[in-house]
Amino acid sequence: MMMQGENIIRLDNAKLTLILVARAQGAPEIAYFGKALSGGDLAAVSYLRSRNQFHNSIDVDIVQASVLPTLGIGNFNPAALRGRRENGDWSADFNLVQVKKRAGSLTLIMEDGTAGLRLSITYSLAKGSAVLDVCQTLTCLRGVYTLDDLAAGVMVLPDDASELLIHDGQWCNEFNERRFVLKSGTWAAENRKGRTSHDHFPQIILGTPGFGEHHGEVYGFHLGWSGNHKICVDVLDDGRRLVRLGEFLHPGEIVLKKGESYTTPRLYMSYAHGLNAFSAGFHDFTRRHILHWPAGVMRARPITLNTWEGNYFAHELSALMAQADAAAALGIERFVLDDGWFGVRDDDSSSLGDWYVDARKYPDGLGPLIDHVRAKGMEFGLWVEPEMINPDSDLYRAHPDWVLTTQGRPLITGRKQLVLDLTRPEVLEHVFGWLDALLRGNAIAYFKWDMNRDLVAASGVNGRPAYHDQVRALYEILARLRASHPGVEIETCASGGGRIDFGVLPFTHRVWTSDSTDATERVRIQRGYSRFFPPELMGAHVSNTPGHQTGRRHTLSWRAAVAFFGHMGMEMDPRHLAADEAAELAQWFALHKRLRPLLHGGATLTFDAMDHRHAHGVINEDKSHAVVGLYQIQSQSRKGAAPFRVPGLDPKAHYRISMPQPWLKPTRMWSEGQLSLLGGKVAVPGELLAAIGLIIPELRPESALILEFHKVQEA
Ligand code: GLA
Repeated sequence: MMMQGENIIRLDNAKLTLILVARAQGAPEIAYFGKALSGGDLAAVSYLRSRNQFHNSIDVDIVQASVLPTLGIGNFNPAALRGRRENGDWSADFNLVQVKKRAGSLTLIMEDGTAGLRLSITYSLAKGSAVLDVCQTLTCLRGVYTLDDLAAGVMVLPDDASELLIHDGQWCNEFNERRFVLKSGTWAAENRKGRTSHDHFPQIILGTPGFGEHHGEVYGFHLGWSGNHKICVDVLDDGRRLVRLGEFLHPGEIVLKKGESYTTPRLYMSYAHGLNAFSAGFHDFTRRHILHWPAGVMRARPITLNTWEGNYFAHELSALMAQADAAAALGIERFVLDDGWFGVRDDDSSSLGDWYVDARKYPDGLGPLIDHVRAKGMEFGLWVEPEMINPDSDLYRAHPDWVLTTQGRPLITGRKQLVLDLTRPEVLEHVFGWLDALLRGNAIAYFKWDMNRDLVAASGVNGRPAYHDQVRALYEILARLRASHPGVEIETCASGGGRIDFGVLPFTHRVWTSDSTDATERVRIQRGYSRFFPPELMGAHVSNTPGHQTGRRHTLSWRAAVAFFGHMGMEMDPRHLAADEAAELAQWFALHKRLRPLLHGGATLTFDAMDHRHAHGVINEDKSHAVVGLYQIQSQSRKGAAPFRVPGLDPKAHYRISMPQPWLKPTRMWSEGQLSLLGGKVAVPGELLAAIGLIIPELRPESALILEFHKVQEA
C-alpha cells in the first residue's frame, strides 16, 4: 500500500532505473536513479522516503529532491528555474497535471497557475541503452516572462557520490582530467564563450571515493549543446548531491510572450560500475542514438591527410598534387585541403566570408586538384569556416551590419575575425547558399567545419543576447546541408576540440580533437576525450617532428601508435618522411585498416594508469579479439612494472597474444617467457590474464607497445 496521495512513476530498461514519486501537491520527487532494479513492488518507496519533522524549520515538509527545485516554496535548495515578470512571479510551484508514458519515455506535464507557467519534462531511455536523457520545455501561459535560468535536468545522487571528475583545459590542451572531493557547498562551472569551449566541457562524472576504471559507482552527465552552459553540483543538507546542467543564459536572452516556449538542450546521464563500463555505455549510446551516417551505417573511416601543418596558407598546386601522390602511396584514403584556398588568404588576417577560389593559387578552380586526388583513389575534403567573417573581406565591405555586435560596444575581433549573425534570415540563407553551391559544383565528400573564436558582445538585431539563437541557427544550417547533400560528411572543429558535444554530433561525423598533434600530449587529451565519445570520431594524426606546437621530437612509431586507435590520419607533407619512416607509416596504415572494424566497432577497454604508463584497448562483442596499446609517457619510476592485468576478456577462454606493431624489435633484455608469451607461443586463460596479469617488458619513454589478443578456438 502506498502512502496517501502518492504515486510511483518508474522508467526502466535492463541497465538503468529511474524512480519518481508523484505527490498530491508539488513537483514529483526523484527517489532513485542508478543500476537497474528488479521489477516488483515499489509501494514501499513512498515509506522509505518519509522523513521526520525538524526543529527550527518550517512546518510543512517540502520535497528535497524535486525533479525541478524552484524558489520561494521552502525547500531552500538551489533552484533549477529562475525567471520573473515585471510585477513578480519570481517564485514557482508546479503541480503535476499529467504523466504520459510511452515505450522508452516518460513525460511529466506540470503547471503553476499562480506564475502562469507550464513545464514539461521528458525522460527517454531506449531499450538496452546505458544512457538516460532528459530535456524540459517551459511555456509562458500569460503576459511576458523573462527566463534567467532553466536546467536541462537535475539529478539527485547518493551522499557517497562525493568525488568529482571534470574535463577542462585550453587551446591545444583539451580534456584535462581533474578530480576533487566536494564536501560542502556548491561547485559550479560556467561557459560563457558562445561555443562548447576548450575550457569547460559540458560534462561531469561523480563517483564513490576512489572510483577507478573497474571499481566504484560512477554517474556521468553530458549536456548536448554547442553554446554556453552551466554545471552545478550542490551538497544538500542531507549530504546527497544535486547535479544541475543547462544552458547559461545572458540577461534578457530568453523572453517568452504568452504561448511561447523555451526548450532546453538535452542532458544525457548514465550510471555504471567503474569508468570503463561507463565509457563503453556512452560510446554505445553515441553509436546507436546520436550519430547519423550518410548511408545509415558507418563505413570504414578513411585514413586522412590534412594539409594544414604541411602547408599552412602557402598553397601551391603542383606541390599539393605531389603530396596527394605521396599520400596515396602510403595508403591514405581522404585528402583534405585546409585553410588558404579562397579569397586572398595568405595569412589569417583576411578573406573569411569570401568563399570563392583564389585564382592566384588555383587558376582553374579546385577542379584539377579534386580530379587529381580522386584519380589517386582518394576522396576530397575541404576546410570551411562558415560562421566567420574578416573585416578585411568583400563580404564585410558589402554587409558590415551582418555581424554579431552590441550597439555602442567595440567590435572585438578574435583571430582577426568577427562572427556572422546567423539569427538574421538573410545571413543564414547566404551561408547555406554558398555551401550548397560549393557542394553542387565540386566533388567534395567532406567538410572540415571550423569555428575559431569565442563570442563576445553577441547581440541580435533586437539588442538582446543572441547566443542561444546563434547555436540553433548553426544546427539549422547543418541540418539543411545534411538533407540536401546526404552523402557529405562533416568534421566539427573549433580551433581543435572547442566544439565537441552531443548537440553538434548528430550533424557531424568526426571531431578535430585538438590542434595539438604532439603525440605525448595527445595520450592524455585522447584519454579525456574517450570518457564520453567513441574512438572512430576522434581525428588523430601523425604529424611533423619536431612537433609544431611543442617543439618535441618523436619517433614515427610513437606518433603512429598514439594516432592508431582513433580516426587515423596524417598532418604533414608526406614527402618529408624519410624512406624508412614512409615504409613504416604505410605498415601502420595497413595494420589500422586490418584492425579497423574492431578498433571502431568494439567496446572500449580502459585501465587504471600505471607508473607513467597509459593503456587503452578495444574488444569485440564475442570477446574473441582484442587490441590493447600501452603507452609509456616518461621513464618508469620503479624498477619493474606491476603486472598488467587485462579485465574484460572471456575468463573461460584461452588467448594467444601477438605484437602486430610494425618495426617492433624486442631487445636482448626481454626474457624467454616474455618472448614466448608475446610471440603467441602460449595460450593463456582469460581468467589468469585478469587475475595475475603479464609483465610488460620495460618500455623507453615515449614508446608504445600494441598487443593483440586472439581467443583460441576450441578444437
Ligand atoms: C584552426 C584548426 C586547424 C586549422 C586552422 C586553419 O586552428 O583547428 O586545424 O584548420 O584553424 O586556419
